[in-house]
Amino acid sequence: MDPDVLRVLFSEDDIHKIVRDLAQKVQKDYTDKVPLVVCILKGAVIFMTDFVREYNGQLEMDFMDVSSYAGASSTGEVRILKDLDSSVKDRDVLILEDIIDTGATLQSLTELFGNRGANSVRICTLFDKPSGRKVFAHTDYVGASVPDEFIVGYGMDYNERYRNLPYVGVLKPAVYTK
Ligand code: IMP
Ligand code: MG
Repeated sequence: MDPDVLRVLFSEDDIHKIVRDLAQKVQKDYTDKVPLVVCILKGAVIFMTDFVREYNGQLEMDFMDVSSYAGASSTGEVRILKDLDSSVKDRDVLILEDIIDTGATLQSLTELFGNRGANSVRICTLFDKPSGRKVFAHTDYVGASVPDEFIVGYGMDYNERYRNLPYVGVLKPAVYTK
C-alpha cells in the first residue's frame, strides 16, 4: 500500500464488481440506443476504460475537461477546458464521473447538454460523497457512497498524484495539511 494512504476503502476486486454492476444496469436501460458516453477528465478516465469493456452493446465515447465554480452561490457555471468532439444534439448522453462532491460540476453539465439539445442526459458516478452536496445534482447510477474524507486512487488525485493506484483509499490528512 502507498505510505500516504491511511486505509483502503475499495480493493481492485471491489471496484471491478461495482463497475461491472453499473455497466450491466446502464446497458439494460439503453437497449436499442447508442449512448454517447462522456468521460469527465481526468478523474473518470480509468473508470471509463473499465466501464466500456463491461458494457455489451454499442456506444460512442467522448471526453470533456471542466473546472467548476463551486462557490456558495453556485449558478451552475462551468469553465470548459476541453470540449467534446461530438455534437450532443438528439443524443442520449451518459456522463461518467469519478465522484460527486458539491454537485456543481454535474449540475452545470446536465444544464449545458440540455441547452445543446441532447435527447437525454444521465449521470453515472462511481462514487458519491453525499455529505459534500451544495447544489442539487440528480444522479441516475451510483456505484458506492463514501464518507466525508479525501479519497484517492483509480483515477482520483490529490495535486495530480495517486491517480494510478489500482485501489481507492483515504489519503492521510498529513499529506494535505503539511
Ligand atoms: P463537485 O461535485 O463539483 O464538487 O466536483 C467533483 C469533483 O471534485 C470530482 O470530479 C473530483 O475531481 C473532485 N473530488 C471531490 N472529492 C474528491 C475526493 O475525495 N478525492 C479526489 N477528488 C475529489
Ligand atoms: Mg473530476
